[in-house]
Amino acid sequence: MYRQVEESQTLLINTRSKELIAQNKKIIKFGFGQSPFLPPTEVMDALKQAVHHKEYSSVQGELKLREHIANFHLQHNGLKVKPENILLGPGSKILLFNILMAFEQADVFIAAPAWVSYQPQAKLAGHHIIKLNTSFEERWRITPKAIQEATNKKEHEASIMILNHPGNPDGLTYSGMELRAIATACKALDILVISDEIYGLLDFNLSHQSFANFYPEKTITTTGLSKWCGAGGWRFGTAFLYDDIEPAFKQALIGIGSETYSCAPTPIQIAAKVAYQNYTHTLPYLKWQTDILKRIGTFCVERLNAANIKVHSPQGGFYIFLDFSFFTEKLAAANISTSNQLCEQLLERTGVALLPASAFGFEQGFLATRLAFVDFEAPLMESEFDLNQDCPKVVEGIELICNWIAAF
Ligand SMILES: Cc1ncc(COP(=O)(O)O)c(C=O)c1O
Repeated sequence: MYRQVEESQTLLINTRSKELIAQNKKIIKFGFGQSPFLPPTEVMDALKQAVHHKEYSSVQGELKLREHIANFHLQHNGLKVKPENILLGPGSKILLFNILMAFEQADVFIAAPAWVSYQPQAKLAGHHIIKLNTSFEERWRITPKAIQEATNKKEHEASIMILNHPGNPDGLTYSGMELRAIATACKALDILVISDEIYGLLDFNLSHQSFANFYPEKTITTTGLSKWCGAGGWRFGTAFLYDDIEPAFKQALIGIGSETYSCAPTPIQIAAKVAYQNYTHTLPYLKWQTDILKRIGTFCVERLNAANIKVHSPQGGFYIFLDFSFFTEKLAAANISTSNQLCEQLLERTGVALLPASAFGFEQGFLATRLAFVDFEAPLMESEFDLNQDCPKVVEGIELICNWIAAF
């Protein structure tokens, strides 16, 4: 018999949107979260020069590059990681999966909402999933209380928690105080934390705080080039292991890497060396992107909140999480009582593609959706950014959602 694994919902919505576009329907693609920005020119040039590097690299990745990455993150937010404790791979997704696979049996604490792939990955790895409840009022953040309460559902000795900030699907981050309190709870319960910081460099204030700075003894940080460098399709991810990692654990990670992906693509590693050569040099590029993303996110939230769709202002990345619960009764009267139906109706009636809350760990009856505000062409870095001119589809899509809901 086969394992039951559905195609990742984010990829599915992208496929569905493309099908509708092929039928000449106008679709506003708020479903799929892909950076519209190009990597810096010198990074793209480095990749062009590297195509003849067709040889395999080592499983862990090239040492010089790992040194660059360690320096870059130290400059970025004081995150200390030893080059020998960095793993490079073809995207952080497979690194996350392999970390989970390194455990024979574990309890995996996952928040709702959380990124779509954590739960399927933990399930594929054969682990027991424990849901951490969050709320709109607590900004969809994990709290020490939620962790403590969830521990009575434990079935195994090993505990792993996945933390993600700035978050997908909510664009929200944690304050230093919140991270400290979570670290204290995790330490007391001996929980290994996988801190998914793939959007860290897209913190709108460029002041991302790594969880490993609060819980250095047992945090693995994952990140990579996909989001801040606009290079998702290049497939380049990193995992930072903690200093005193158990040798058998590290060996398992390298072993699993060797039996699955072999190495991060060699030409991409060469380009990555340029991307990671100097954090200060990268700052204007990051500032340019985050200024634009912040302006778009702020526009969306103001307009949606005015239409009684509850949503928090994003602090990083390119997502917001829309809570339609104000309209629950009215929508139910129109036979819309699940987040899937909500997204289907929105797509059909307005051409706006969103992802349902059910994909992020909620019961179907919770009427919420994720919106990725990236359906626009990146403007030139030198030019003045104008929301209406540069992001007409985002502006139109938000108006379409607001007008549609106003009719209920
Ligand atoms: C929260 C989160 N984590 C991890 C990933 C995986 O990124 P990649 O495998 O491209 O490094 C994504 C991609 O969408 C994401 O949104």
